Amino acid sequence: MKNSIEKLFDLTGKVAIVTGGAMGIGKGIAKRLSEAGAKIMIVDIVEQKEAEATMSDIKSNGGEALYIQADLSDIKNLENIITQTVKEFGDLNILVNNAGIFSYCPVTELTEELWDKTINLNLKAVAFLSKLAVKKMIEKKHGGKIINISSIDSIKPTGNLSQYDSSKGGVRMLTKAFAKEVGKYGINVNDIAPGGVNTPGVTKIAGTNLSTEQQQAMKVQMEQFISMLPLQRIGQPEEIGNAALFLASDASNYMTGSTMVVDGGLLIM
Ligand SMILES: NC(=O)c1ccc[n+]([C@@H]2O[C@H](COP(=O)([O-])OP(=O)(O)OC[C@H]3O[C@@H](n4cnc5c(N)ncnc54)[C@H](O)[C@@H]3O)[C@@H](O)[C@H]2O)c1
Repeated sequence: MKNSIEKLFDLTGKVAIVTGGAMGIGKGIAKRLSEAGAKIMIVDIVEQKEAEATMSDIKSNGGEALYIQADLSDIKNLENIITQTVKEFGDLNILVNNAGIFSYCPVTELTEELWDKTINLNLKAVAFLSKLAVKKMIEKKHGGKIINISSIDSIKPTGNLSQYDSSKGGVRMLTKAFAKEVGKYGINVNDIAPGGVNTPGVTKIAGTNLSTEQQQAMKVQMEQFISMLPLQRIGQPEEIGNAALFLASDASNYMTGSTMVVDGGLLIM
């Protein structure tokens, strides 16, 4: 018999889609939701074998997970994600829009290609996948939870990321706009604004186009940056998973259109 706190966070019987779940924050979220009992559909652009680490982590823990390989930045691919999920797992209760890309680029170097690539994945796919998910949840008459991964850059720009910051500012407002319209169907829409989380994407961007000396300088800068963070460490993907678990669970039922900042205090540095 589960006690009342266990019941509050229990996702047994729920079906969750996690985009960008093959690695990084998406993997941390997929693992946490699965540990709470949800069946997980991972959607990512990488080959299935690259998503195996996430899948086997979930399965070895007694969870259920399936994989759809898709490029989310092409909205033609989105309908199939909802259809396949409902076909395989019989329902859809939770959508986590996590997949996102970030590339450093000064505004003077900004290209239409980088702008479109970033906006298409980080913002357009979030809007259209959410639209399809919401329609399915309304049809099923059981409400649901939409969780968008924005960024602290949606609140305060880091610099050299204008296309990314614009996309994430859009995600924050999209969250509120959707929340306002779909609350009447029992659907909660919130976003998590992470900052300073250790992921393959962050490691890659830190090392892009840098010489060995520059990489060494970057390492020193990173150590200085971490020591200045109020919590004096960077975050782990599972810690964003904890926030997602809260937003996916009944514990957050009276919360919608909100942003949860999970950044080790980066914004108050
Ligand atoms: N790591 C951080 O500190 C941090 C901070 C703020 C916000 N975020 C946000 O969190 C999310 C995850 O970031 P991360 O650091 O884990 O990144 P990551 O690069 O480590 O992982 C991103 C995942 O998205 C997938 N993906 C990329 N393009 C895709 C596409 N077109 N279609 C489908 N899947 C695609 C990748 O294959 C990968 O599995 C992003 O939206 C990012 O903007 C991260």
